[in-house]
Amino acid sequence: MEQPIQELAKGLSIGIIMDGNGRWAKRRGMPRTAGHKKGAEVFQDITRYCNQLGVESVTFYAFSTENWRRPQDEVGAIMKLFGEYLVKAFDYQKENNRVVFLGDRSVLEPKHQKLMNEIEEKTAANTGMTLNIAVNYGGRPEIVRAARQLAQLVKEGKLEPQDITEEMMSDHMYTRGQKDPDFILRPSGEKRLSNFMLWQAAYSELVEMDVLWPDFTRADLDAAILEFCHRSRRFGGV
Ligand code: FPP
Repeated sequence: MEQPIQELAKGLSIGIIMDGNGRWAKRRGMPRTAGHKKGAEVFQDITRYCNQLGVESVTFYAFSTENWRRPQDEVGAIMKLFGEYLVKAFDYQKENNRVVFLGDRSVLEPKHQKLMNEIEEKTAANTGMTLNIAVNYGGRPEIVRAARQLAQLVKEGKLEPQDITEEMMSDHMYTRGQKDPDFILRPSGEKRLSNFMLWQAAYSELVEMDVLWPDFTRADLDAAILEFCHRSRRFGGV
């Protein structure tokens, strides 16, 4: 018999690529931004559910470094939504979440940057689930950033190139100190990582699901966790 979902979910680290918002809206004859609005509601509900399940960390891909290529009104609408949820994010204090933002925030609106810094500071000592939100994030830029930071230490004579280890690289990612994702979930039927957690995903299982993100439910997360638990992870061994 299958164990209760709580037991299976406890301590997991999950990455989620929130995909399919545009298609969801198009199918309903609505503007793409309506899909993002519903997607943001699902983001909040799935965050709450992950808390209830005892998940260790969950990372949501909210906006990639490539998403700036979208029409200006769509980018503006996503950023506006993000801002609204930043204000709401103070709710997560109640849930004892540690909130961490992944990505280069320096080009975001100053008021958003201020809120992001405040939320991170206020939740830093929380002992519950870690909620990572990736905004203006790309896996390759994250690796370049880590390489630059280590190169700087070499330049300053504090580090020898041959002493650079994988652990040091991990420590220079935005997810410093966190467990790598056990699985990465991509709804909407696509089978790509799209520059998401490239360093951290080395041994993550990929779980793709044929549901658009705005339709994604708690039962879908249960199904994803069950699928992950049925996979056999060998980490390169036998
Ligand atoms: C991908 O679907 C979704 C995005 C690029 C934006 C996701 C943003 C949110 C859910 C809202 C803001 C974030 C937070 C954390 C509140 P798509 O538009 O690529 O869908 P498509 O592939 O069907 O076009």
